[in-house]
Amino acid sequence: MSALLEITSARKVFGGVRAVDDCSLSVEEGSITALIGPNGSGKTTLFNLITGYLGADGGEFRFRGRDVTGSDPGRLYRHGLTRTFQQARVFPHMTVTENLVAAGGYRWRDLLVPRVSRRDRARAEVLLEEFRMTHVAELQAADLSYGQRKLLEFAAVLMSEPRLVLLDEPTAGVNPVMIETMERHIRERNGVGVTFLVVEHDMQFVMRLCNPVVVLNNGKEIFAGSPADVQQNPMVLDAYLGT
Ligand SMILES: Nc1ncnc2c1ncn2[C@@H]1O[C@H](COP(=O)(O)OP(=O)(O)O)[C@@H](O)[C@H]1O
Ligand SMILES: [Mg+2]
Repeated sequence: MSALLEITSARKVFGGVRAVDDCSLSVEEGSITALIGPNGSGKTTLFNLITGYLGADGGEFRFRGRDVTGSDPGRLYRHGLTRTFQQARVFPHMTVTENLVAAGGYRWRDLLVPRVSRRDRARAEVLLEEFRMTHVAELQAADLSYGQRKLLEFAAVLMSEPRLVLLDEPTAGVNPVMIETMERHIRERNGVGVTFLVVEHDMQFVMRLCNPVVVLNNGKEIFAGSPADVQQNPMVLDAYLGT
């Protein structure tokens, strides 16, 4: 077993709130690991620390065996670590194709002139086909349904050929058919070696797809184990029932 991502004693304090509190966890290479926990337990903050969107107040972050503590999102992205957001972030006034190409890691001025590589254009086309979005390729992202925007955001993170993808609530607000689509894409990508860390409230989705399941409460890992074990663990039940 080897950890692709290893977090040791991470901390983040907002005012008096210890959002992430001496939290240690690891994500094994090749896994689809779930990160669950009650609202406010620190899941999104932990994602922000892992991906460099927020600086940690303490702790060590290792990715692919290297110390990446304090790295910015761009550097981590080039290293193979990428994410989606709880509220899908796409460029609303760019087309679907442009959104994909932009996700290839270009600077703004590269997008204004035809400097985008043929390889990235081809890659965008392959993703459009794979995600069955060819028919909406020239629509502005703002004109997509919410579910389609989430799917586009997911397709966009695959432009960089990541090693580890963090998904923050991929199915929230998404219709059942789109949830199945999302699930299929996660499985397919995992099958070709992409590791996932997924924050998700839909427990059926988690139980079907993820192993192990890591449970966060008050900014700390309180349990990590198989989906079957997690459902029977008294600490986890207490955390959810608030007793
Ligand atoms: N930018 C922020 N400023 C102040 N408090 C924050 C901020 N972000 C999160 N928090 C607080 O940190 C705690 C963890 O929040 P969050 O990471 O969003 O939890 P989750 O994603 O598990 O619902 C909560 O108490 C939340 O109110
Ligand atoms: Mg959250």
